[in-house]
Amino acid sequence: MASSEQMRVGVVGARRGGGHIVALGKANNRIVLGGVYDPSPGGAGDFVKQYGGKSYRNFEEAVEDCDLLIIASPQQYHAPQADYALRAGVHVLSEVPAAVSMEQVSILLAAARESSASYMIAENYCYSRLNLVVGAMAKAGAFGELYFGESEYIHEMKGWHTNAATGEPTWRRFWQVGKNGITYPTHSLGPLLQWMDDRITAISAIGTGRWTRPEYEMEDTVTLSARTRKGALLRMRLDLVSNRPEVWNYYSLQGTRGAYESGRLFGDRPRIYLEGISERETWQTLEEYAEEYLPRRYAVPPDAAGHGGSDAWPLLDFVDSIEQGTVPPFDIYKALDMTLPGIVSEQSINQNGDWLAVLDPRTMTAGIGLNPGKEAPLV
Ligand SMILES: NC(=O)c1ccc[n+]([C@@H]2O[C@H](COP(=O)([O-])OP(=O)(O)OC[C@H]3O[C@@H](n4cnc5c(N)ncnc54)[C@H](O)[C@@H]3O)[C@@H](O)[C@H]2O)c1
Repeated sequence: MASSEQMRVGVVGARRGGGHIVALGKANNRIVLGGVYDPSPGGAGDFVKQYGGKSYRNFEEAVEDCDLLIIASPQQYHAPQADYALRAGVHVLSEVPAAVSMEQVSILLAAARESSASYMIAENYCYSRLNLVVGAMAKAGAFGELYFGESEYIHEMKGWHTNAATGEPTWRRFWQVGKNGITYPTHSLGPLLQWMDDRITAISAIGTGRWTRPEYEMEDTVTLSARTRKGALLRMRLDLVSNRPEVWNYYSLQGTRGAYESGRLFGDRPRIYLEGISERETWQTLEEYAEEYLPRRYAVPPDAAGHGGSDAWPLLDFVDSIEQGTVPPFDIYKALDMTLPGIVSEQSINQNGDWLAVLDPRTMTAGIGLNPGKEAPLV
């Protein structure tokens, strides 16, 4: 680990990793870039040219040199790399999803519990401006008791499944569409669970069958129905294959006193209805409430931050929580709450949509041993 007063940040996986580095400028010199590890020399070289820092020869060297690692490698590596870094006492900000199998979940959970360092998932869709406004309104009770939510991640990515230069399949061909189920759940489930302050207890997943790419293991559209601990129903659609424009961030929310719709049609504006406030059967734009509800902290994102400014906040929030010794806003349990339903969906879809339980990571036993770490293992 670095010993300077500033927190030394390393990036693992140069491409997406660069998206997080915009936060450095907003962090008032509390953090400094150590360097990047990427096994592709081109990827590491481009990163260093753009952002500076060292190019680490291997992952272990990055762990050795840094206080905090942003793990933005392909998704099958997130949990193993986080495990190694946490066990070396290095803080981990992990890209999504947190893990790709139950075995990885156990390993990651144990490491997070036993480590002296902190872990957070970088679920940036929870930080988009409109999602922050909806979250603040939900928290203030504007929609009443919440009992239904839905979300969609529709992103035609067939061109990302083959390496254009070599013709070889990429990691996405296997880990995103080479399995059947909700292989990319967190952008859709993260905001819903955050708004509802809830977790999923059971899911059922079914698909449309394989139409556009019959050779793919994943069906064109996969839907997830989910029951939550508080008794709400959630519905999610994932489609990485169908021929159509993208809708990465459709959400809706229904409560006893109001509703939110992020919009479906071209040109739709995100809208809400609040019983007793909005005119009967008439939507209002969410924007009318943005000024009042958007948390001040998130009012001005760094200029260069991607995804509408949301890419900078996970790193900034994580660094604050480390400095203040508080639980990060998207800790290991929340990370697994939004990851586990996707993993369980692979079994459900194989069993023709059987409803299956989703474990509460807070009561899973991984890492509860003689040295359970800084956090009470059962909360
Ligand atoms: N939150 C978001 O909005 C968002 C957006 C894009 C990607 N992602 C996630 O970020 C991760 C990376 O996605 P990407 O779009 O950059 O993928 P990519 O395929 O464009 O790039 C992956 C990079 O990781 C490198 N890499 C391969 N194996 C590695 C290893 N073991 N350790 C370190 N680096 C390794 C590759 O050389 C390449 O440079 C994925 O998990 C993806 O799901 C999240």
